[in-house]
Amino acid sequence: MANRKYIVGNWKMNGLRTELTDIADIAAIAGQNKQVDVAICPPVTLITQAAANSPGFTIGAQDCHYAKNGAHTGCLSATMIREAGAIMTILGHSERRADQHESDAEVKAKAEAAHAAGLGAIICVGETEEERDAGKAVDVVCGQLEGSFPDGADPHWLTIAYEPVWAIGTGRVPEASDVEEMHAAIRHKLGKLMDEGADTVRILYGGSMNGGNAAELLAVPNVDGGLVGGASLTAEKFGPIIEAAAAS
Ligand code: PGA
Repeated sequence: MANRKYIVGNWKMNGLRTELTDIADIAAIAGQNKQVDVAICPPVTLITQAAANSPGFTIGAQDCHYAKNGAHTGCLSATMIREAGAIMTILGHSERRADQHESDAEVKAKAEAAHAAGLGAIICVGETEEERDAGKAVDVVCGQLEGSFPDGADPHWLTIAYEPVWAIGTGRVPEASDVEEMHAAIRHKLGKLMDEGADTVRILYGGSMNGGNAAELLAVPNVDGGLVGGASLTAEKFGPIIEAAAAS
């Protein structure tokens, strides 16, 4: 049986209080498309208010620290994120892997901390353009997945996002056949990493998904949803993606 589709908006470093109305509008569209799971991951500063404004709508974070507490200036623990009102978090996004030099081992530790705090996790993996051109995309992504994979993973709180680095924010999208090959490889790898439940872990595609290409991407086998950046910032742009998922 196909998994329920999951459409997640990653707001990155965008959004002030004035944008809370966009989250409420998106939550209303989600409410009209209950066959799809929808979430928004705003900046941490908006989590509490966004969660309070839209009870029942999933608000997530974009990162958490791997430690429970301690001397980590500027960081937030999984429990703090949970207490703020988020019920899941993105981890290991390629922008953090590049800008904050996050390693697979660190992403794994963060995922384990999220699990311990009752916070769902979306672990991101994806190859660079050079790696794809060199024919190494599947090996790179499966290697990242193995290195970032938390011990004791529970299929109900874990999601994987395949995001080719070269497709993020560029308007470029891989061929459907390449997405299919990669998602199948990730599914196969999950089967090796988990004792059970690999088929129910949702694998999202991310990278320049929009209202125009969502239906085609969401129809690819093993694509269980999308992780959406730019096109998640307004209900006008994000709504058609949610609706495409509902129709798929
Ligand atoms: P994009 O970002 O949709 O703007 O390409 C996706 C992401 O980075 O999660």
